[in-house]
Amino acid sequence: MIKRKNIIKVAIDSPAAAGAGTLAKSLSKHYNLLYLDTGKIYRFIAYHKIKFPNKFNQNFLKSKIKSLKIKDLASKKLLSNNVSYEASLISKKKNIRKIVHSFQLNFAYNPPKKYKGSCLDGRDITYKIIPDADFKFYVTANIKTRALRRFKELKRLNKKISYNEVLKSIKNRDKNDLNRKISPLKKTKDSLLINTTNLTKRACFLKIKKIIDKKLEINGNL
Ligand code: C5P
Repeated sequence: MIKRKNIIKVAIDSPAAAGAGTLAKSLSKHYNLLYLDTGKIYRFIAYHKIKFPNKFNQNFLKSKIKSLKIKDLASKKLLSNNVSYEASLISKKKNIRKIVHSFQLNFAYNPPKKYKGSCLDGRDITYKIIPDADFKFYVTANIKTRALRRFKELKRLNKKISYNEVLKSIKNRDKNDLNRKISPLKKTKDSLLINTTNLTKRACFLKIKKIIDKKLEINGNL
């Protein structure tokens, strides 16, 4: 694998709807980093499993991932509640994680030259995908806040779902993600804990920016 030297690598892990994606996007824009929402890859696979149950096998999956472009991950179809839940089931499987793993490494370590580095968010980014990241964060928020945020997001997309259904689904996904044997969601010792429950998007961004700027300044990167 090609590894670009002197790039900034940001790794973020978080449970669902904790605000990691929003934070990662704003950091990526500010520091000119390639952003990859790794959950979307699992959602992409889950979507194909639901849509093509008879075709869904290892070869089908490999070819889909091989031709996968970042823009394919922007599809609104990937945001539905059943895709979310299926994603948390298929992501427990070793063979699926293996295929997704190499796809992610390329983004993390070899972003196109126009970027100063990369920023990935997911469940195992800080310890499995980019263990040598320059910045590691574990972003969380209380479960009711997360459910409310996701509920509002789904409502904006005109999805027919109640707050209680969203809450239940997030609880189930947390259970799956935290308790699975392979690559469970966890906070590593070297990740900084960010609780976004009472933070606005802007306050959260500024808090992290301050931390990043300080380290970049010390290392002479600013
Ligand atoms: O982040 P998001 O909620 O879109 O992720 C969907 C699902 O994909 C998660 O519930 C989790 O099971 C899985 N996932 C994972 N590893 C990652 C990112 C997501 O297992 N790095």
